[in-house]
Amino acid sequence: VTFLGGFFGLELPAAHACGLASFWKLPGNPALTFANGRSALAALLASVRPPRLWLPSYICRSVAEAASATATPVSYFPVDESLQPDTSWLESGARPGEMVLAVDYFGRAPGREFLDFANERQDLLFVEDACQAVDTGAAPWGRWCLRSPRKLVGVPDGGFVVPADGIAEGGWSVLEPQMDVYRAACLRFEDEEERANGLWHEANQRREARETVSTRRMSRLSRELLARLDVAPIADRRRANYRTLAGVLGDTMFLRDANPAFVPLGFPVRLPAARRDHVRGALIAQGIFPALHWTDVPSAATFGAAHVLAAELLTLPCDQRYQPFEMERMARTLVEILNR
Ligand SMILES: Cc1ncc(COP(=O)(O)O)c(C=O)c1O
Repeated sequence: VTFLGGFFGLELPAAHACGLASFWKLPGNPALTFANGRSALAALLASVRPPRLWLPSYICRSVAEAASATATPVSYFPVDESLQPDTSWLESGARPGEMVLAVDYFGRAPGREFLDFANERQDLLFVEDACQAVDTGAAPWGRWCLRSPRKLVGVPDGGFVVPADGIAEGGWSVLEPQMDVYRAACLRFEDEEERANGLWHEANQRREARETVSTRRMSRLSRELLARLDVAPIADRRRANYRTLAGVLGDTMFLRDANPAFVPLGFPVRLPAARRDHVRGALIAQGIFPALHWTDVPSAATFGAAHVLAAELLTLPCDQRYQPFEMERMARTLVEILNR
């Protein structure tokens, strides 16, 4: 039956062709979308069943969770202090049929050496982890691309791999989205003056801590919003904000690229480990909330560079919510804290 009448659900304006959903090739079938990125990766692992998953030493724990949820053996390969994968390690360690995941860190694709390696080793199954990338400005380099939109735009949930046909029907998402995925996002959305920071921040922390690998699907609200969020203004604003930060913070800039062709996740700065958390606290005291990527890297401590970076990087926001003048002010605040 089709009902006529009754109350309205949510009504959204029409979708358009240049939205993030089409740009990212969001699968049309909701059963091929998941509540988060780790679940999408787990579904891929469960279908492809690679004998091993290679992960970069610098990675967030949720990616490793996808492997443990599917009992996929994991090995790590090193990245250096500029986040470039060690291809000779993979060259000598990876066997045909194994899966290799590498990350477009902060939105930027890996360098030429790794891309050549991925191109040459057709016997390996490469996954491009684009969870931090709106648009790398470069060609896709993996057999699959992994996405987790909530890190980049204001949608409450979601994760998918493209192409999604690698996921067998037995691994499709069968559970309804949980209503509490909306809670933190809606609390913040409704609090227009941003007076109840404690409330929505805590709701989000609790919700993130509960994220797990599941066969729950991405909410329809997230899918529909992605179809309506235009790529170009998001990309332009992020790049403009980043350039503004680079203009002031050239000395502490981590990515050494003041005018990026990629769309940046944020603006990472590198500080001595002994000062990083103090600086973060001082920024928070002024209402600036930088992110840590990541606090609990799952690779062994012997992968030195990854753990050094985890202790020294701090990511300033430069996303589409902000304008260059706000970036200028944030950068000056950071300089002032660093000069204290
Ligand atoms: C690079 C990267 N890949 C994958 C993920 C997993 O995403 P999700 O939290 O949606 O499972 C994250 C999460 O932080 C990430 O940073």
